Amino acid sequence: MNIGLIGSGGREHALCKKISLSRLVDNIICFPGNAGTSKIATNVDVNILNFKKILKLIKFYKIDLVVVGPEEPLVKGIVNFLKKNKVKVFGPNKYAAKLEGSKAFMKMICAQNNIPTAKFKICNKKKQINDFLKNCKLPVVVKADGLAAGKGVTICDTKKKVIKHSNEILMGKFASSKKLILEEFLEGEEASYFVIVDNNNFKFFGTAQDHKRVYEKDKGPNTGGMGAYSPAPIVTKSLEKKIISKIIKPTLNALKKKKNPYTGFLYVGLMIKKNEPYLIEYNIRMGDPECQVILPRLKTDIIKIFEKAIFNKLQSIKIKWIKKKSMTIVLCSRGYPGKYKKNSQIKNLNKVKLSKGDYIYHAGTKYIDDKIVSSGGRVLNITSIGNNFLKIRKKIISNIKRLGWKNGFHRSDIGWRVINKNENYKRHFKR
Ligand code: AMP
Ligand code: GLY
Repeated sequence: MNIGLIGSGGREHALCKKISLSRLVDNIICFPGNAGTSKIATNVDVNILNFKKILKLIKFYKIDLVVVGPEEPLVKGIVNFLKKNKVKVFGPNKYAAKLEGSKAFMKMICAQNNIPTAKFKICNKKKQINDFLKNCKLPVVVKADGLAAGKGVTICDTKKKVIKHSNEILMGKFASSKKLILEEFLEGEEASYFVIVDNNNFKFFGTAQDHKRVYEKDKGPNTGGMGAYSPAPIVTKSLEKKIISKIIKPTLNALKKKKNPYTGFLYVGLMIKKNEPYLIEYNIRMGDPECQVILPRLKTDIIKIFEKAIFNKLQSIKIKWIKKKSMTIVLCSRGYPGKYKKNSQIKNLNKVKLSKGDYIYHAGTKYIDDKIVSSGGRVLNITSIGNNFLKIRKKIISNIKRLGWKNGFHRSDIGWRVINKNENYKRHFKR
């Protein structure tokens, strides 16, 4: 089979690597991929929102199955477009993709189906904002309704800040929508739970915890994610039951009733408080960098899984996992998430000898002549699997040191919750 993979981040390199291990696969074509994917696939430089051009390329390369990594083409309807043109594609359709594409849509699904989430108000007028502020507790979370490249959420500790950020959204700060959501601030610990979904069923696809803030001790502005680990021990068996019965099943049933059943990866972003799950957000894709820690633990052929999902036969496949722990640390360009330099050469990639269970997934990298240079804020994902999070982290950091990339920086405290608390935590976790 020939596989088309859309996207260019660390998530897509991890997907590409896993797909390349499938015995069912002949060629992988990445639209557009990065320097890492170019070693195991053919990269084709194309705008991922130019669906017509992508369709032509799919035909040219005789692609049998398309896998979509990032949210934007999904929210803009690439699945509907490709299916209409008789292309096999894995991912949610435009309607179901609103779970991530519109926070107002997601919140309405929660309200209509008693799904636990922060109390909220959807606003498109100043009066609604003032009404909400009359009797709310601070802090208040202000969220842009539409896609905002990770910049749409602000936690405000004063009413003045709520008004400022809300007004910016009402005035059109984000092209995707002028609506906003005001919501109650939830205390607790965050965790991500993943499932793969077809029209009839869904299957567990891992847990992880991300580190969104740029600096150690969770300081500084939010980023796309500075590192992650899997599994997330906070997701105990009893919590998992609640996540499924109170959040996932009601959501999937609601979409079925609306005649748009969900298919694809579903990323359930949670706040856990006193062993109760609250939905913070849905993402309609794998996480980045969560994908980079979950996929190294996957044993089952990923293409077999995609095929089952596409034919609504997920029920008939057993998805197997390596019973090890996994961590990734993101190596970023100095300055990220603010301004940073591009085209800085990463010289020592070939000198880092990776042992079994070690991976370097590329994100913002490209070739200029024969040299690998940085081309984005998040540049490389240094990943390892093992039995002990502290040892895994030490190994990753030693690989980063061997790389010795002068223009890069990383967080050294990824996994602090599980490492500082008790590496041999006694909490039950089954995977
Ligand atoms: P979102 O894009 O909705 O996932 O929000 C980004 C981040 O903001 C989340 O990962 C949380 O860290 C934080 N956040 C969002 N909503 C809330 C909330 N209601 N209470 C506390 N933190 C939140
Ligand atoms: N790491 C967060 C995300 O993928 O949305």
